[in-house]
Parts: sequence; C-alpha cells; structure tokens
Amino acid sequence: MNLKSHLIFTLYTVYGILLKVMASKGKVRGISGQYPLVQNVTVTEGGTANMTCRVEYNDNTSLQWSNPAQQTLFFGDKKALRDNRIELVRASWAELTISISDVTLSDEGMYTCSLFTMPVRTAKAYLTVLGVPQKPEIDGFTKPAVEGDHITLTCMTHGSKPAADLRWFRNEKEVKGAKEVNASGKTFTVRSSLQLHVDRNDDGVAYTCKVDHVALTQTPQQATEVLEVHYAPRVEIVHSPAVPQEGQYLKLECVSKGNPSPDPVMWTKDGSELPDLDRMIVEGRDLTFTSLNKTDNGTYRCEATNHLGTSSAEYILYVYDPNALGQHGTDHALIGGVVAVVVFVTLCLIIVLGRYLARHKGTYLTNEAKGADDAPDADTAIINAEGNHAHAEEKKEYFI
Ligand SMILES: *[C@@H]1O[C@H](CO)[C@@H](O)[C@H](O)[C@H]1NC(C)=O
Ligand SMILES: *[C@@H]1O[C@H](CO)[C@@H](O)[C@H](O)[C@H]1NC(C)=O
Ligand SMILES: *[C@@H]1O[C@H](CO)[C@@H](O)[C@H](O)[C@H]1NC(C)=O
Ligand SMILES: *[C@@H]1O[C@H](CO)[C@@H](O)[C@H](O)[C@H]1NC(C)=O
Ligand SMILES: *[C@@H]1O[C@H](CO)[C@@H](O)[C@H](O)[C@H]1NC(C)=O
Ligand SMILES: *[C@@H]1O[C@H](CO)[C@@H](O)[C@H](O)[C@H]1NC(C)=O
Repeated sequence: MNLKSHLIFTLYTVYGILLKVMASKGKVRGISGQYPLVQNVTVTEGGTANMTCRVEYNDNTSLQWSNPAQQTLFFGDKKALRDNRIELVRASWAELTISISDVTLSDEGMYTCSLFTMPVRTAKAYLTVLGVPQKPEIDGFTKPAVEGDHITLTCMTHGSKPAADLRWFRNEKEVKGAKEVNASGKTFTVRSSLQLHVDRNDDGVAYTCKVDHVALTQTPQQATEVLEVHYAPRVEIVHSPAVPQEGQYLKLECVSKGNPSPDPVMWTKDGSELPDLDRMIVEGRDLTFTSLNKTDNGTYRCEATNHLGTSSAEYILYVYDPNALGQHGTDHALIGGVVAVVVFVTLCLIIVLGRYLARHKGTYLTNEAKGADDAPDADTAIINAEGNHAHAEEKKEYFI
C-alpha cells in the first residue's frame, strides 16, 4: 500500500465517522437519493477514454474512480495512481470525470465510481477497448500462375478485437472466401482463403482483401494483388476485304492471344513457305497481298508459339474473278434501283392523293358555310354561295 492509497483510506475512514455523526444528528437528508451514475465506454486502442461519474444530489460527498484492479485513480480532484496517461478532466460536487489516454487492451475492464456516503454507493462502468486490425497480407500468389493451376489465396490480419471480418473482391465484385478465426491473447487473428482454378480470364485480374471492423472508421484496411496468368496462344485469322478479287489488295491478320505474347507468328501456304514474297508481305502478325492473283488460291496458315504451346489457324483463299463479280453486282444494283423507284412512286402517289382529298373536302365545307344557310331562297343562296367579299353589299340590297 503506497502513501497515497493510505491517505485515501484514512480520509475515507474519517469521512465515514463524520457522516455517522451528522446522520445521528439528523442533519443529513436525502442520502437515499444519492447514486453515482456512470456509462459504459468504448474506445479504440491508442485513443482516449473519458470516464464520467455524476451525482444528481450531493451534499459535498466525495467521488472516487478506481480501475479493474481496484486501484484508486482519483479521489475527488486528487490523483491517487501514478500513471501519466490518467488525468483529471472535471471534479465538482456533481461530477468526477477522468481521462485515460493512449489506451491499451490491458486497460479494459470494469471501472468503479464510489460515492462515499454511508454506506458507500458504487456504480460500475465497463471500458471496452477495440483492437485495431493490422493491414492485411495476401499470400499464396505464384507469380506468374499457369492456366489450369489450382491456387489458394490467403488473406490474414492480426490484432483485431472483436474479430475482424475479411471480404474478397475480384475486380471490385465480391466473391466468397473461407474464414477462420483464432484467438491470440485478447485479440484475434483472422484468415480468409480463396481457392482459384486459374484460367486465362484471370490474367490481369485484381484480387482485393478488405478488412471490416468497428475500429476502422475512415481508412479502409485492404490489400490487392494482381494475378498474372501464363497461357498457351490461341489464334484466329481476320481478313479484309470480305470478297477477295483478282488484282486487289488483301490483308490477313493473325490475331493471337497468349501470355507471354507469342511473337512473331509464322505464315505458310499449303504447308510450305510463302511462294511470292514480293506480293505477299509479312509485317508483324499481318500478311498482306498487294495485288491478288488467281494463282494465290490455297490454304494459308498462321502459327503462334510460346513456351506453353502452339496454336494455328487456317484461311482458305479463293480469288474471285472481278468481271464475274461485276455482273453480279450490276444485277443487284438494277434490282435495288427498281425497288427504290417503285417505293418512291408509291409514296408520291399517296402524298398527292392525300393532299387532293384534304383540299376537296375543305372547299366543299367553305361553300356551304358562305351563307347558303341564311339565304331566303335558292337564288340568294346561289348568289351568296358564289359571292366573294365584293358581293356582300349587293346581298344587303336584296334583303331590304
Ligand atoms: C474528454 O473530455 C474532454 C473535456 O471535456 C474533451 O475535450 C474530450 O473531447 C473528451 N474525449 C472523449 C474521447 O470523449
Ligand atoms: C459544499 O461545500 C461548499 C464549500 O465548502 C459549500 O459552500 C456548500 O454549501 C456545500 N454544499 C452542500 C450541499 O453542503
Ligand atoms: C456495461 O457493460 C457491462 C459489461 O459488459 C454490462 O453487463 C452492462 O449491462 C453494461 N451497461 C450498460 C448500461 O450498457
Ligand atoms: C488457428 O489454429 C489452428 C489450430 O491451432 C491452426 O491450425 C491454424 O493455422 C490457426 N489459424 C490461424 C489463422 O492462425
Ligand atoms: C497472275 O499471275 C500470272 C502468272 O504469274 C500472270 O501472268 C498474270 O498477269 C497475273 N494476273 C494478274 C491480274 O496480276
Ligand atoms: C482460283 O479459284 C478461282 C475460283 O474458283 C478459279 O476460277 C481459279 O481457276 C483458281 N485458280 C487456281 C490457279 O486454282
């Protein structure tokens, strides 16, 4: 027992005696209404916790805070425990607030506020300390992976309390992992693994492991790895124009996908080397014919290789005679033209007919309205109906 605790003990004893004396003289009233009021506190590791104890009615009785080990921290405004992290925030007859800064997991526990009435009344507040999960780490990356491999990615984070949650994302889209939680001391180690059967679509895909935890409010803890997948080439031939004609230009493009990139590609014709390198130009992956000739008919093949394999594609060239094609073309053009003309004429007819009908109907209505209704006899009606504005005067004369 140190000096301060001793002092406090003595004070308490003295105070107790005093209270007894006062009570016996009937001077202390309303003691039964005096209760310290506290609240549970939750704080993140490294943060500051304010422990507040309040009394609604108090006759200057002292308040005291003690820690889970029953050590007195503050008695009124007097500090009792030597710990620089513990400071007085406010001490009055109605309140005793202390702060504990740089909180560690070992600060967690039940704190007691005592009001030194007779008998002593206490209130208990639980201080919960949240363990901040460490930045996660991803393991199990074989770089590069080969298509067909089975790999297991593991994400691990230490130090969370309560246990953190780990979530996996494949290019921002959530995927399900298998979680495992182990306690180590007061905190938890959380591990989540993801089994992958790697294929070419995984090449360049980012796998992210995110930590979800109450103690992480702003900075999200996450780790990302980008998968690199090696795979055998796959080629296909893209050609333009669609109909190769004699004398024209033709481009065959050997589109090959593979990782590592299969470069260069090899072109052959009917199983042997290209026969005419003056007109058949190989540039990168492309084979270009400057001027097609019927003798170019044949099977062209492009082949791409990387260390994982070889792939090839074939294109059968059939050089059309431009004259034969031309006639065909004319026929099509002729039919097209005739159809267009027929459609055009039909449209015109419809429009003309429509206009005629509309105008005719309008005229008919106008003639009826021009005054035939109020004409006293047929003559007048005819005159009125014929009438333009100039006849309006004459019309009056007839009436009078
Ligand atoms: C603790 O109390 C002090 C003084 O009222 C205040 O400035 C501080 O923000 C409080 N801290 C917490 C963590 O509530
Ligand atoms: C508390 O003590 C102060 C000063 O010692 C005194 O002025 C006040 O009247 C006391 N309050 C009560 C309720 O006894
Ligand atoms: C405070 O925490 C303790 C221990 O966790 C719990 O038993 C009690 O119900 C809590 N009190 C309040 C007011 O939440
Ligand atoms: C958890 O504990 C088991 C058994 O001790 C162990 O095999 C496993 O590797 C541990 N997991 C983690 C994430 O530490
Ligand atoms: C095609 O090749 C033959 C023989 O090489 C040549 O005589 C002919 O002129 C060529 N035709 C065209 C359109 O280039
Ligand atoms: C190439 O194909 C065209 C179209 O069938 C044909 O007219 C021509 O004779 C062929 N030329 C050769 C050399 O086979």
